[in-house]
Amino acid sequence: MSVSTAFAPAPAPAAATGAVPAPLPVLGRDVTVPLVTGGEVGYAALDYAASAPALQRVWDDIAAYAPYYGSVHRGAGHLSQLSTELFENARRTVADFLDCRDDDQVIFTRSTTDSLNLLARALPAGCEVFVFETEHHAALLPWRAADVTFLDAPRSPAAAVRTLQRALAARDTARPALVCVTGASNVTGELWPVRELAAAARASGARTVLDAAQLVPHQAVSVRELDVDWVAFSGHKLYAPFGSGVLAGRADWLGAAEPYLAGGGASRTVARGADGGVEVEWQDGAARHEAGSPNVIGAHALASACRALTEAGPEALAVRERHLLGLLRAGLAEVPEVRVLTLFGEDAPRVGVLSFVVDGWNSSHLAAALSAEYGIGVRDGLFCAHPLVHALLGTDPAGRAGCGTGSLNAVRVSFGAGTPDEDVLRFVTAVRELVTRGAKWTYRTENGRCVPES
Ligand code: ALA
Repeated sequence: MSVSTAFAPAPAPAAATGAVPAPLPVLGRDVTVPLVTGGEVGYAALDYAASAPALQRVWDDIAAYAPYYGSVHRGAGHLSQLSTELFENARRTVADFLDCRDDDQVIFTRSTTDSLNLLARALPAGCEVFVFETEHHAALLPWRAADVTFLDAPRSPAAAVRTLQRALAARDTARPALVCVTGASNVTGELWPVRELAAAARASGARTVLDAAQLVPHQAVSVRELDVDWVAFSGHKLYAPFGSGVLAGRADWLGAAEPYLAGGGASRTVARGADGGVEVEWQDGAARHEAGSPNVIGAHALASACRALTEAGPEALAVRERHLLGLLRAGLAEVPEVRVLTLFGEDAPRVGVLSFVVDGWNSSHLAAALSAEYGIGVRDGLFCAHPLVHALLGTDPAGRAGCGTGSLNAVRVSFGAGTPDEDVLRFVTAVRELVTRGAKWTYRTENGRCVPES
């Protein structure tokens, strides 16, 4: 049995005729949740930026493979061979999805956070790192052991490029350098000028890693076209929540580094040394940083999602997302108390991610009421991007607020390829009702979160 025929991808659902394609089928569309006011309602999943639901197609592909599951790179049996082939095929699918260069390598990790920590551990000696303070903590924090420069929040894409160029102009070009940029903000959804930032880095002899966690679920990403050196992203935001992530790109720094995890799979030979210790010859290539039994289910799921999105067509997905953004913006514009958070301006291009505050409302209170009274799941808080949200809100990082007080954080609504119009329309109606009529229930603060009184 050949893997490629045994687990051939199911045909992608046809886009609806007409201007706006239909959403892709995802799991959870028929899930109902209880309301605090009584009864049940269909769950509106509007927290895709945290974790997107699995595509039905991904689930079907995993179910088809599951009986054939076996160990990867370590078994003699037929199913081990088959699983190894599937795992390596997934690597090639991801490389195609990202339009990688021929000599790039794809390393399977656990997540974007894991990928960026891996790269941080592989920086060459003396490497300088440049990163905007606006980054998600996964992209902000891994470099703290290096010589890192945190760049101030820019107020336009052009200002971002100028800020980076100024910082790079002052660097010692004899030293290696890395610039870490985000593709789309997990807070504002705004698109960053990746190509221009990577060009500025290249002009200074620096390399670039793209945090594409919030970009790949929404737009095609081409490593070649953007001319970035590495891309990191997570399966759980790409409709494949099975514990897999990716670091794709240049092999040299990673090949020269100590393995990220020491263990089986990363080691080629291990023997007792003359001094009584243990001598190790490490693997080259992706295996060097993939110690332990590979997550073949996660890799296969991720590859399935890549195929599904490619077949659905990036342009069709973008048309649908712009349509949903239009519904959202028009609905929120009718509630004057709503202030949308933005670094680059209200009309800046963005993916389906938007954060806002409402005058007179604590954001946690609003998010709790959306869930408890309307069955709508959004996220509230600082979104693991504390410096950015404090800069956007002008708040004191040390501040605290309870349910009844003003807001020191924001509400985020986010959606993607599986979101029906109905969910966005329900959301804007619910926000309007809550703001104009108030919550129907009372809430209290428990462990820092707003919860309905029982
Ligand atoms: N990074 C994820 C978010 O923004 C968890 O919600």
